[in-house]
Amino acid sequence: MKALVLAAGSGTRLRPVTHTGAKQLVPVANKPVLFYALEAIAEAGITDVALVVAPGSDDIKEAVGDGSAFGIDVTYICQDVPLGLAHAVLISREFLGDEDFLMYLGDNFVAGGVAGFAEEFRRSRPSARILLTRVPDASAFGVAELDAEGRVRSLEEKPEVPRSDLAVMGVYLFSPSIHEAIREIKPSARGELEITHAIQWLIEEDRDVRAALHTGYWRDTGNVADMLEVNRHVLDRAVGAIEGEVDSESRLTGAVRIAPGARVIRSHIEGPAVIGSGTVVTDSRIAPHTSIGEDCTITASGIGGSILLRGATVHGVPAVTASLIGRHTTVTSAPAEVPAHQLVLGDHTRVTLAR
Ligand code: DAU
Repeated sequence: MKALVLAAGSGTRLRPVTHTGAKQLVPVANKPVLFYALEAIAEAGITDVALVVAPGSDDIKEAVGDGSAFGIDVTYICQDVPLGLAHAVLISREFLGDEDFLMYLGDNFVAGGVAGFAEEFRRSRPSARILLTRVPDASAFGVAELDAEGRVRSLEEKPEVPRSDLAVMGVYLFSPSIHEAIREIKPSARGELEITHAIQWLIEEDRDVRAALHTGYWRDTGNVADMLEVNRHVLDRAVGAIEGEVDSESRLTGAVRIAPGARVIRSHIEGPAVIGSGTVVTDSRIAPHTSIGEDCTITASGIGGSILLRGATVHGVPAVTASLIGRHTTVTSAPAEVPAHQLVLGDHTRVTLAR
């Protein structure tokens, strides 16, 4: 069995962070969300993996390399335009050959891995097997309807009125019959070749399409709120480790991970939290569920429930919360003689200022 990981796509809901980097590299507890997917694939015993990337995805290539760090062998496939999940399969035909494959959307976070799901497919070898999970509002996802025996009766992509609360997760298992289905489908109203439509084609052709219900934690990290939620979930399960320097005037409570080369000076860090290497936290309070990336500088500030990417600076700002702060971004308080906000913001940035 091979694996196809989809990491192209435009990431519009995570702008401006995705103007300068792939959304799949946004870190959760200081590890790119894509790495959790690659680890799950390796754990399922799959080593032959292709990563579908957008043109110029040097950041992904640099971060993942040849995959040896994960125990897998990675091939890169460039998708010039994000024309849909089924289009990504179409352009990967040569790599996939006539083998079964696991397709994993690189922005999905699935707790507990996918080894059991892959194992069941190897045993029963249906045409396709999809993973479903119950959500309060399924209209933002592919939605499945099951028959009384639990077989998939129909699938719809982002319906206005969902027929069930069963959302299609971004992890699929396919036999080579999916290629036949993709040849038959047409682009959807949003102009994409939808994998949902290809699976629906298999259902209409009476092929064996099965579903497994995932009852554990799952998120599509497409927007900031979900990204922060996954960060909270992962940190809640993290164990503390103090490998950097913490001075005697600082206080750490709960599970706190301080990476080697990080420094904490006269500060209070309330876990769960992680502080990346090369970061210096001075005279500050870091509240729970905060991930501070590498080489950040935090001075005289308070930050909680947030993700800071590499090289960010926060200076003299007492209450930063629920924020995603991009690489090499600076947030500071205005000097006393300037009683106003001064902003230099990238395109598509959102700022919420306290009154
Ligand atoms: O997350 C689960 C949902 O993923 C499913 O419920 C939907 O049925 C499925 O269509 C998909 O919906 P999204 O709208 O969330 O897909 P998105 O456009 O965010 O793309 C998912 C991943 O695939 C993301 O890592 C980018 C990548 N991608 C996307 C497209 C459209 C590609 O590599 N190439 C593409 O052409």
